[in-house]
Amino acid sequence: MAINLKTLLAQPPKLHEKDGQLVSIWRIDHTTCVELNTRLKPGMNTLETGSGLSTIIFAANRCRHTCIVPIKGEVDRIQDYCSSASIDTSNVQFVIAKSGEVIHQMSRSAYDVILIDGCHGFPSAFVDFYYATKALRLGGTLIVDDLHIDTCNLIASFMQSDAGWDVVLMNQRVAIGIKVSDTIDNEWIRQPFVVLRSNPPSVMSRPLYYAGVGLRSLLAEGVGKTAKKVVRKLSGATRWHAIR
Ligand SMILES: C[S@@+](CC[C@H](N)C(=O)[O-])C[C@H]1O[C@@H](n2cnc3c(N)ncnc32)[C@H](O)[C@@H]1O
Repeated sequence: MAINLKTLLAQPPKLHEKDGQLVSIWRIDHTTCVELNTRLKPGMNTLETGSGLSTIIFAANRCRHTCIVPIKGEVDRIQDYCSSASIDTSNVQFVIAKSGEVIHQMSRSAYDVILIDGCHGFPSAFVDFYYATKALRLGGTLIVDDLHIDTCNLIASFMQSDAGWDVVLMNQRVAIGIKVSDTIDNEWIRQPFVVLRSNPPSVMSRPLYYAGVGLRSLLAEGVGKTAKKVVRKLSGATRWHAIR
């Protein structure tokens, strides 16, 4: 059955348990529901970490969907809801596990759409991102939810800076990127995101970088302290990032 998103969002099912109560507040937001629903087509190969309202949207669009989630109770509630709403879940495969333990086993370059919305902790979110990127086909779509959490925001900012991604939507809550090339195993030196946060090896190799750092130090700490740091840097002694 095609999904009626308006009806679903008017009365979202309570699928997650928080402090012993069932809640519906952990779901993807309205914009993400619409974006996801618009992108899905029957027969697409899709994957998500975490489960909930999003899983129902994947199922209702008749995707060949894999959902990795460690909590069996959530799976039961999703299946109950789908059966009461005549949504077929026979194409949904639930993998009851923490994503970090199984996501590396997903087929490579095989998925059309992937949603990362499982464990948002460090480094789990990054492990999901790494293997989800490998599992995604070129031209496929990656959705990263919960950008108000720093781990997720870092992933989205990385995607924005990286040649492997065309980020088509990024707001306070969600990032949606199209995988345009395979860059996930690049060395840091080819990743502007990492280079700009790193301490380059010598002043001569990055004169503009150091001019900027020096100027910021000058404004923040004055001539005396900056001059001392410049001398120490030139003699190779200082931890330059301390003055950024
Ligand atoms: C924010 S909720 C997901 C919301 C869901 N996308 C929706 O639209 O309702 C986070 C989900 O991550 C799951 N989760 C927690 N730790 C996980 C882990 N290590 N691996 C995979 N999923 C995890 C939770 O059980 C929960 O389903």
